[in-house]
Amino acid sequence: MMAPFSITWLGVEMILVLVLLQLVASQDCQLQLENDMDAEEKPCVNFHQHACGNWYASTSQRTLGAHDMRSKWVANLKLQLIRSLEDSSPTNSTSNSSTNQLATFYRSCLSSGQSIRSYTDALAQSGANFPLLTNNSDTFDWVLANAGLRTYGAQGFWRLLVQDNWQSADQRIFYMLPPKFELLGRDDELNEFLYQRYLKILLLELGLRVRRAALLAEKLVEFEKSLQKLLPNDVEQTLVLRKPESLQDLEQQLPGLQLKRYFETILQGIDWDSTSLLLVADVEYLQGLQRLLAEHTLDPTIMSTWLLLQLPAYFELRLHDDDKLSSQREHCLEQLRKLMPGQLGRLQMQLVLGESYQDVYDTAIQQIAVLFRDLKQQFELVLNETEVFHDDLVTRNLARDKLRAMRLLTPRLQDPNTNTNPNPNTNPNPNSNPNLNGAAGTPLLGGNCDENLLQLSLSQAKLEFRQVFGEPVTSAPADPLSVNAYYRLKLNRIELPLGLMATPLIQQQQCSSQADTMAKLSAGLGYILAHEMVHAFDYDGLNYDAIGQLANGQWPARAIIRFSLRAGCYLGVRYSNATLTVNENIADTEGLRLALDTYRRRSGDAANLRTFFVAFAQNWCGTVASTTGLSRHAGHAERVNNVLGNMPEFGDTFQCQASSRMNPIDKCRIW
Ligand SMILES: *[C@@H]1O[C@H](CO)[C@@H](O)[C@H](O)[C@H]1NC(C)=O
Ligand SMILES: *[C@@H]1O[C@H](CO)[C@@H](O)[C@H](O)[C@H]1NC(C)=O
Ligand SMILES: *[C@@H]1O[C@H](CO)[C@@H](O)[C@H](O)[C@H]1NC(C)=O
Ligand SMILES: *[C@@H]1O[C@H](CO)[C@@H](O)[C@H](O)[C@H]1NC(C)=O
Ligand SMILES: *[C@@H]1O[C@H](CO)[C@@H](O)[C@H](O)[C@H]1NC(C)=O
Repeated sequence: MMAPFSITWLGVEMILVLVLLQLVASQDCQLQLENDMDAEEKPCVNFHQHACGNWYASTSQRTLGAHDMRSKWVANLKLQLIRSLEDSSPTNSTSNSSTNQLATFYRSCLSSGQSIRSYTDALAQSGANFPLLTNNSDTFDWVLANAGLRTYGAQGFWRLLVQDNWQSADQRIFYMLPPKFELLGRDDELNEFLYQRYLKILLLELGLRVRRAALLAEKLVEFEKSLQKLLPNDVEQTLVLRKPESLQDLEQQLPGLQLKRYFETILQGIDWDSTSLLLVADVEYLQGLQRLLAEHTLDPTIMSTWLLLQLPAYFELRLHDDDKLSSQREHCLEQLRKLMPGQLGRLQMQLVLGESYQDVYDTAIQQIAVLFRDLKQQFELVLNETEVFHDDLVTRNLARDKLRAMRLLTPRLQDPNTNTNPNPNTNPNPNSNPNLNGAAGTPLLGGNCDENLLQLSLSQAKLEFRQVFGEPVTSAPADPLSVNAYYRLKLNRIELPLGLMATPLIQQQQCSSQADTMAKLSAGLGYILAHEMVHAFDYDGLNYDAIGQLANGQWPARAIIRFSLRAGCYLGVRYSNATLTVNENIADTEGLRLALDTYRRRSGDAANLRTFFVAFAQNWCGTVASTTGLSRHAGHAERVNNVLGNMPEFGDTFQCQASSRMNPIDKCRIW
């Protein structure tokens, strides 16, 4: 399957020329690199400062969160989208073309005041008979209320997520987890006070008298705290990695929760089978919940009202009323990102790539696939020769198998003309929702923000549920505002989000020399792919096999010792917070080494290492956001300087003396 390098090289060249010809804004790429550089700073003392000394973000970019290169890309994407949405003509708003739908939603989000009745009426349609609305507490059906919330995407007594099955790479299944309690917070009196006041405002808006609203709000907070007490105190809420269970088994363990009825309600209109439904569930929490609910069934006023208010709270009713216009814009864009990611992503590609965006996009995807293949082949050469395995052929083969099995998932651009239903065999019932029009499965939107939110959420939840019964997962999430690639240990795959496809990493400007263009591509996207690839072979990665299963003891002690002897360098004095950041530091240096060797192999004598190193450093211009608490990465300057200090080629290229800071004697290298 793999072509020899010479042919690959030719193929890449041709593809590159194709992509770039359509994008040339023809500013020379050297100029572009030099814009951010500060030549006054000595490259051998602090290369990050040398490469990034003149980097800056404008005020409008900073307002949208720009503090380093990546967040600046995101800010630019946001600015571009906001401008386009605000410029599109409102006279065409009744049209249902995708762009118009986006603009219609955005306008309604910015302009119309929200009303709580829209949400309580919508939830009342579940048939739950909320005592607060009916003045009758005998017929309340919490199962329907709880399910009704989920059909709009909101959490109720639990969060129901659709996630990859960590035991089986291509399958999506349901996860049942405790709610997040984001508004309540944890042991935070101020939060609690604000939340209680918020609930009271919602109750007043529903027509309750002040005194009754205040009392009820207090009880609702108490109730939510009793839900929260069902969680263990110390652990952060992460996905529980327990074995998936069948719905039937769970139903037997937790009869009081009526899970089968719950799923029958939310999965209406979808072809599914209760005997084969799989769930990963936090059973301890659910058992506690079962006990708690039993105490409340006699007088359901509190729990029913709590559920009722979860919907307006989920849609952040009144939470943004006092925001500045700039925050409101960002909030409305965030809603679009959540509810119409496919359409927003296509608009973004249109803005970045122009009208023939689909062809350019497809070509870029091919180009990425070639790059990935070449990096893999280079890494395989390394695994074939590394001393880490010495004469242990079995382990060497295991590592090679894992590398070969690793997949790259790129996002798929949503086709404007077809339904987004991922499984063509389960047709959505066209009568189930009269507002659902054919185009991209999106409901027709109008000027009412509440209605738009509710309709979009309904159809999105349905889409999400269908993924559980749909085809295998073959593309990465279409998130248009995410630019971070990641490696999934338990699936042995790398995923690139859609936002990344719109960044200069992929949509590069052409350089005057082909080798420079390749240098930028290799030090940008190549380094990112290689970084993720190396995570499969860092301290965590080596515990997992080719299909992402915990491979207990597959690597013999001797190989692990040889690995650790080399990896120990990354725990040395050059690294602050070394134990916390060791895997990232391994992936950074070993990844750049891999990207560099692949680049040199492709470009031969034409390779321009200076461009390569500057382009690499400029991935990390700016500083880490001050709010990030416990980061698993070192700060940008340390990161860049330590990585380059590990490359003998760097010292040679910039002629750094052996004693200089950027050319330390103890160079780290595992692979
Ligand atoms: C409305 O849309 C039609 C076709 O989509 C286009 O020809 C027309 O120029 C648009 N009108 C405005 C005011 O943008
Ligand atoms: C808009 O919706 C109507 C039906 O409501 C449909 O016939 C038409 O093809 C749609 N137009 C687009 C551009 O999707
Ligand atoms: C609820 O019922 C009580 C008495 O049963 C009555 O006084 C009150 O007005 C009713 N409230 C509503 C909103 O119907
Ligand atoms: C690595 O070694 C295996 C087994 O000897 C061989 O089949 C494979 O082609 C080698 N890979 C590379 C990239 O040379
Ligand atoms: C090391 O980690 C601590 C938090 O654990 C952080 O406050 C500190 O800034 C980090 N030091 C560096 C140099 O990154």
